[in-house]
Amino acid sequence: MWAVLLVLVGLLSVVLLLGRRRRREGEPQLIQGWVPYIGKALDFGLDSNAFLKKNQEKYGDVFTVYIAGKYMTFIMDPLLFPSIMKYGRQLDFHDFVNQVAPVTFGYPPVSSFPDMDHQIQRSFRLLQGDNLLALTESMMGNLQAVFRQDFLGDAGGEAAGEGWSTGGLYDFCSSLMFEATFLTLYGSPDHACRHSDMAALRHHFTKFDNMFPLLVAGIPIWLLGRTKATREKLIRYFLPQRMLGWSNTSLFITMRSRVFEQNDMLSDTDKGAHHFAILWASVGNTVPASFWALYYLINQQEALQAIRQELHRVLQHPESQDPWEPEVMISKDQLEQLVYMESAINESLRLSSASMNIRVAQQDFTLQLDKQHAVAVRRGDFIALYPQMMHMDPEIFTEPQVYKYDRFIEDGREKTDFFKRGQKLKFYRMPFGSGSSICPGRFFAINEIKQFLCLLLIYLDMEMEEGQEEAQLDNSRAGLGILLPTKDVRFRYRLRRPTS
Ligand code: HEM
Repeated sequence: MWAVLLVLVGLLSVVLLLGRRRRREGEPQLIQGWVPYIGKALDFGLDSNAFLKKNQEKYGDVFTVYIAGKYMTFIMDPLLFPSIMKYGRQLDFHDFVNQVAPVTFGYPPVSSFPDMDHQIQRSFRLLQGDNLLALTESMMGNLQAVFRQDFLGDAGGEAAGEGWSTGGLYDFCSSLMFEATFLTLYGSPDHACRHSDMAALRHHFTKFDNMFPLLVAGIPIWLLGRTKATREKLIRYFLPQRMLGWSNTSLFITMRSRVFEQNDMLSDTDKGAHHFAILWASVGNTVPASFWALYYLINQQEALQAIRQELHRVLQHPESQDPWEPEVMISKDQLEQLVYMESAINESLRLSSASMNIRVAQQDFTLQLDKQHAVAVRRGDFIALYPQMMHMDPEIFTEPQVYKYDRFIEDGREKTDFFKRGQKLKFYRMPFGSGSSICPGRFFAINEIKQFLCLLLIYLDMEMEEGQEEAQLDNSRAGLGILLPTKDVRFRYRLRRPTS
């Protein structure tokens, strides 16, 4: 019996050894671990920063790691990032999206519909330029409507009274930003301002979102309990006949619906799945980003006061707003003038973002990193930038663990000079990715978060409840965007009193 077992173990080891990749000349150091398929995924997931740092110390700025069935070459030195952006043809981002998004959101690979792929890319323009203005104005109206109804008692909602109310800060941010973003992009029901089933939608979204890292890692959905059923519910929300009953839909979503309608090969469920993917892209990061932006401000009342003063100066408002006065209007120019607020948001993004920028090598080639360094890359391998390491580098950001709301301000303007080894960095803040794949919704996202902070700072006094631990980053989605807190924290708020 033991002899048979030994032979089997021996055979398995030989199979595993044969299946392992051998490093070729000119390729970076290879770290692949012993567990088939998983490779070093668990070490990376446990503490990505510590894992990458350890390997950087051992192997230098470029090394390849086998993670969840993929060979990923990490480029650790931010001074080398610009060279990666130059390889647009050989290093493709959309190949990565096309591998991951269909299995995650449940639609057929877009690469099978080349025309549609092109039109989908074009639709991203509708998140920027002139269209950004319309989106931002619509967001202000929606944010204000939801906020006033739920927190100021408009239209019979529950009003924040004279005294303090308490709540979970994440839940508060999520309820406001999720619904207002949804209304702005997808529109409202024909005969009402709000969808009646938004709480259920958000509940299912959160359940799906919790499984998101596992789906992206390639775990089949049938292994993830009820996730498939949850995803089906979310997709059904966006079936074309349902969306036909919505009005004030953004041009961005209207155009995408048109593109899908023109494609006979897409079923209604496929169309719904595409719309659901955009819901994830638009709130999956914006909600946690709003949480951290507000959390750090409430925790540092001195920062909060400085941002509030800037806001009142720009709006030429008194120090507080009577809740029964008309809605607050904030123009595009005014949003742009809020430079301290923008710095505070960027600082919270620096601390909370852990997105990985991935490109897929389209061919075997030599990647020239700088004059001295070149590495050989194989077709199908991933090239990965992990900006969180740069965001936490003490050489670039002094006391990187500390929140400094004005870190990105110099002489009253945006600071853009950050250095590594004495050289000015082209890329020093990358929560939205980089180069050709940079997030098309980034301007809208920053505007939304600004509008959200503006409303809260105008209407509410806010404090953290005492006697609780600080919010911690949940690393389980390292590599996938803005990290969530491990658990919600409690805060209290009350209406600011109008000053005479
Ligand atoms: C704080 C909020 C947000 C963050 C941190 C964020 C971050 C990102 C990142 C890191 C990427 C991948 C870029 C890369 O790998 O180089 C991305 C892609 C994308 N984001 Fe955002 N995003 C945010 C908000 C939004 C919003 C509000 C929208 C839409 C309304 C949006 C739409 C998209 C889309 C459609 C893509 C895929 C682009 C493509 O396939 O080329 N994002 N985002």
